Amino acid sequence: MMGISQHDASFDALYKCCTSIVNMATISMARIVPIIVSKLIILSTILSPLAIIHASKENQGFVRTLDRNLHGFKKEKLTHFRVYWHDIYSAPNPTAMPIVRPPSNTSATLFGSISMIDDPLTEKQELSSKLIGRAQGFYGSAGQEETALLMAMNFVFLEGKYNGSTISILGRNSVFSKVREMPVIGGSGLFRFARGYAQANTCSFNAKTGDAVVEYNVYVLHY
Ligand SMILES: *[C@@H]1O[C@H](CO)[C@@H](O)[C@H](O)[C@H]1NC(C)=O
Ligand SMILES: *[C@@H]1O[C@H](CO)[C@@H](O)[C@H](O)[C@H]1NC(C)=O
Repeated sequence: MMGISQHDASFDALYKCCTSIVNMATISMARIVPIIVSKLIILSTILSPLAIIHASKENQGFVRTLDRNLHGFKKEKLTHFRVYWHDIYSAPNPTAMPIVRPPSNTSATLFGSISMIDDPLTEKQELSSKLIGRAQGFYGSAGQEETALLMAMNFVFLEGKYNGSTISILGRNSVFSKVREMPVIGGSGLFRFARGYAQANTCSFNAKTGDAVVEYNVYVLHY
């Protein structure tokens, strides 16, 4: 009801306005022109402070709005890549190192322990296959009941046009689940503005040494 009556009222006002414009048209041009000019002056007086505020918002010296098309961010695309992540604790060339020992020796999940990694990412499951990049970062045991790692790592690519570009992965990795999903939270180089997810599934794990090979399927939206 409220909406309808408001609508009627505004229609009424519009009608009155139109009628007065028609009436005005019957008045001689000599009278109308000064009226229009004075109305324009009033209007511009009202609007000019707004225009100044608007302009200063866009030009504050240290900040400006850019045209995304001119900066190469025209069309977002979805890229999938698959790499094999090699976490090696065993000699002679470990790529993962415990940097914080588990604070408690009774925790089955080694809660609180942290490892730093610089793991090779290869094209195939074999470590000897082509090196695509490296996974650099750390992970820590963040679950007291279930083994769940907090992963914080950057994949840096070393191949072709991706050479030097990175993506950042931050997420929960419940290592004994078949497939674990972790968010891709950003990137650099060709992966600027990246967002997406990574799915990890373990190909092999040596409980004695701690060595693991994990397949990572990464889906990234970027420009
Ligand atoms: C476990 O930790 C407690 C307290 O820190 C210590 O007294 C005990 O010797 C440790 N046990 C082993 C097997 O390391
Ligand atoms: C990747 O970039 C580095 C440093 O810019 C360069 O030394 C290396 O040869 C490049 N690798 C490939 C495969 O293009």
